Amino acid sequence: MTRLNIVVGITGGIAAYKAVGVVRALVLAGHDVHVVPTEGALRFVGRPTLEAISRNPVHTELYEGVAEVRHVAIGQAADLIVIAPATANSIAKLAAGLADDLLGNTVLASEAPVVIAPAMHTEMWRHPATRANVETLRSRGVTIVGPAVGQLTGADSGPGRMEEPDEIVRAALERVMGERVSPVSSVAPRDLEGRHVVVSAGGTREPLDPVRFLGNRSSGKQGIAIAEAARARGARVTLVAANLEVADPEGCDIRRVSTALELQAAVTEAAAGADVVVMAAAVADYRPAAVSEAKIKKDQSDDGLTLELVRNPDILAGLGHAPHSGTILVGFAAETEADDERLLALGRAKREAKGADLLVVNRVGWNEGFASDENRILVIGRDGVVVTRAHGTKLSVAHDILDVVVSQVTTAAHAAQSTKEPESA
Ligand code: CTP
Repeated sequence: MTRLNIVVGITGGIAAYKAVGVVRALVLAGHDVHVVPTEGALRFVGRPTLEAISRNPVHTELYEGVAEVRHVAIGQAADLIVIAPATANSIAKLAAGLADDLLGNTVLASEAPVVIAPAMHTEMWRHPATRANVETLRSRGVTIVGPAVGQLTGADSGPGRMEEPDEIVRAALERVMGERVSPVSSVAPRDLEGRHVVVSAGGTREPLDPVRFLGNRSSGKQGIAIAEAARARGARVTLVAANLEVADPEGCDIRRVSTALELQAAVTEAAAGADVVVMAAAVADYRPAAVSEAKIKKDQSDDGLTLELVRNPDILAGLGHAPHSGTILVGFAAETEADDERLLALGRAKREAKGADLLVVNRVGWNEGFASDENRILVIGRDGVVVTRAHGTKLSVAHDILDVVVSQVTTAAHAAQSTKEPESA
């Protein structure tokens, strides 16, 4: 699945301010988010805030944008609709199918799954009218997240509090992706603070002559997502960028390279003393034996052209087979193997051969993997065990990979610490 088009409806309750966290988490997870607040919602949270956080214009008026038929266009384009908070009034309107505002129209004009996070006082939540409306929505396939039990706006407490934004996001994405989705925290954990993470991304190009090269289809998106996620988690990030097709991530020290040999020099230099090295770049295994100074001309005969190629160094294996205690080495394996078991076997063999601590395996093909915004991966650990499987946007997958990395960094730090500690008398 590609990047999702998600409508976040916000209705007029005090929890509307918390909906900003929902929008932010969905944007951070790499989705295209369109906020549709009701008029009531705008009394609690301002349009500029919603526009800044969602990175999209925010519309509320039914009679604006009539020429582009906005009242149905937003709903038709949506892959998912999340309404948070959903007040008792808005739940009643949804149950009745009312369309007297932009949000009501959006929901009716959409076939996308709807996830709502109710928020109201306990009495309102328990009222038979609300109970019946919620049941109606549930029977139509609407997912209800929460409400949580806790302190409400006044002195009272009980069921009615809006569920936490991260939980709403997790439930919403799970609903649309049909499988477990790891939470993408609106505030990334700062668990890589003080760590140096080196990421290689993109694909190398091996020149044949001044105008031609041997290259590959890697866009660099997954590597960039890892660099961004590591930054968000507090790391100092060096990005060794090989011919990226996407914008540079912010806040990273970027070293631009083109060929495998340049990439090797940059990664080797940056890797000295690094805590984590992630080799996400697609490195050419071979390069032309000679680079022509002038543009290679067609032979006048009709014969083909034979290129002589020589092996490039295996950068990951070079790092993996050198002593690297304290540095977690993460490799990638892009494989076209269709069979899951054989894919896993290839991954295990590749991790072993390269001496990587972790190997991220993903399937690539003519239509899979490369320029897509989504990825499906599994991570193989030192003993060949699958330590995690993930599916989602490249950014959420990056966080899943870093979750495993962080657990290993912590273990490596403990191991290093215990070898340094003098034996107690
Ligand atoms: N890699 C590397 N140096 C190379 C080739 C690959 O460091 N010369 C790294 C990649 O960055 C990746 C991992 O090794 O992390 C696996 O890359 P992949 O292309 O899947 O594997 P190869 O070793 O090239 O094996 P093959 O193409 O034969 O499957």
